Amino acid sequence: MAAEGTAGPAAEHVHLDEGLELLLRPLRDDDKRRLAQAFERLSPETRYRRFFSPLEKLSETDLRYLTEVDHRDHEALIACDTESGEAIGVARFVRLDDGESAEAAVTVIDEWQGRGAGTALANLLAERAREEGIKRFTALLLTENEQMRELLTTLGPAKVISRDGGTIVIEVEIPEQGIGEHMAGVLRVAAGGTVELATPPWGLAR
Ligand SMILES: CC(C)(COP(=O)(O)OP(=O)(O)OC[C@H]1O[C@@H](n2cnc3c(N)ncnc32)[C@H](O)[C@@H]1OP(=O)(O)O)[C@@H](O)C(=O)NCCC(=O)NCCS
Repeated sequence: MAAEGTAGPAAEHVHLDEGLELLLRPLRDDDKRRLAQAFERLSPETRYRRFFSPLEKLSETDLRYLTEVDHRDHEALIACDTESGEAIGVARFVRLDDGESAEAAVTVIDEWQGRGAGTALANLLAERAREEGIKRFTALLLTENEQMRELLTTLGPAKVISRDGGTIVIEVEIPEQGIGEHMAGVLRVAAGGTVELATPPWGLAR
């Protein structure tokens, strides 16, 4: 099944190495099955790094929470392999009580990790967060989670703001940059590949 050619203000086509192409777009209510299938493809270690427990299955309640988002205080983006239409990663933020911070999380299925998908998702998530008036991301991580720390530093300098047992909370300021620099960031991630917007950032105004 080919991925639908959906587009929206936050949709991007990303070309990675080896001819791999992703469509990044906002997650929708009807993505529950796609998300559940992607979850089944996560290794136990990846599940633990994301959910801090050996979660075996997403419940109906989990799926509702993860997909029925308001795209304002809770945004979620999905990355789909344009060949198969399957979901290979998700990034989300949930606004915190101070109104200007949000907790962010990114997950990429194991067979796609290390190819730039996570960084592309994080950059588009930062773009969306900025549009919603969010100034910084925090992320709860296992202390040894180097991949997520590296990924966050692609947005800006990341600092550890608390430690508790085997976990840390990292904070990173979302840069006040335009789409040009954002694109440059994604291009760096795509490691020689190319990125094109499914919809121009300035919309379809004539
Ligand atoms: C964190 C995660 C989303 C990164 O996704 P990804 O698609 O592999 O990310 P990228 O390919 O864009 O790589 C991100 C960075 O990690 C680095 N990286 C990749 N594999 C690595 C490894 N095995 N060890 C250390 N760093 C690694 C990359 O070099 C890159 O850094 P760079 O931008 O300086 O080159 C992914 O590893 C994942 O899903 N982990 C499990 C869930 C999780 O831990 N989520 C975070 C908690 S919310």
